[in-house]
Amino acid sequence: MASYQNERVWIVGASSGIGAALAQELDSRGANLVLSARSVDKLEALQSELKGSHEISPLDITKEESIAVASISAFKSPVDRIVFLAAAYEPMWLKSSDLDTVQKIINTNLFGMVAFIKLIFPFLEEQGKGQIALCGSVAGYIGLPKGQPYSATKAATQSIAESLKLEVPSFIDVRLISPGFVKTPMTDKNDFTMPMVIEPKQAAVAILDGLKGKSFEIHFPKKFTFILKLLRLLPYWLSFKFIKRLL
Ligand SMILES: NC(=O)c1ccc[n+]([C@@H]2O[C@H](COP(=O)([O-])OP(=O)(O)OC[C@H]3O[C@@H](n4cnc5c(N)ncnc54)[C@H](OP(=O)(O)O)[C@@H]3O)[C@@H](O)[C@H]2O)c1
Repeated sequence: MASYQNERVWIVGASSGIGAALAQELDSRGANLVLSARSVDKLEALQSELKGSHEISPLDITKEESIAVASISAFKSPVDRIVFLAAAYEPMWLKSSDLDTVQKIINTNLFGMVAFIKLIFPFLEEQGKGQIALCGSVAGYIGLPKGQPYSATKAATQSIAESLKLEVPSFIDVRLISPGFVKTPMTDKNDFTMPMVIEPKQAAVAILDGLKGKSFEIHFPKKFTFILKLLRLLPYWLSFKFIKRLL
């Protein structure tokens, strides 16, 4: 089990699901946390459950001013790792999509993520070290039914993480997290049986193993992610057939 003793880790999207589980796991491994999201009540409830003394830095990633304020607070001491998990999702068919919801998802998952990267980067460069992990999804590997525009934003996250890895100095360690299905408030909205679904704690452990590992992409559960990676290599007529059967 990788130790995170005395590391300062900023979790963006800590108020529920994978982020909250990650906070619990990191707390048990001795890390000092900065917990961010919009729901301060949920962050406070989480903070009170944890053993260590951790900071709360409220943040709405769709608001540049909010990112700027949270960054100053997070970087008042050197930040070893940032795990960026904040995202919005609503299942919908493209043909009957609600455009306000579409805009909210794109604004959060794409604009919010890029604004966050732009605004925190000077702090990482200034401190001359640090890791940033962006959360994509296997939903970004290939278009899935009822998953847009969320899947498109997750494909974009993968692309942005790849570009970032190539753009930034090597002292900044860029990672991509690609989860399969994890049981969280986000996926509780799904009305289908999720294949190979895992618990948030399992996702948290996989992420923490991966952040200390060497691979750029941290993907899990491996059985599921390898199947989807293989599907990507097939001709479309065959991959569409398999995906319909899988879902
Ligand atoms: N669950 C899965 O199966 C699955 C699979 C693949 C990838 N993922 C990815 O894993 C990450 C975590 O998802 P989850 O399943 O744990 O979902 P979740 O429980 O809904 O958590 C989403 C987090 O994002 C925060 N958030 C949303 N909008 C925000 C905003 N504008 N500013 C700041 N924080 C915001 C939420 O907090 P507030 O509402 O309090 O702001 C919450 O803490 C996401 O990036 C998701 O796309 C999940």
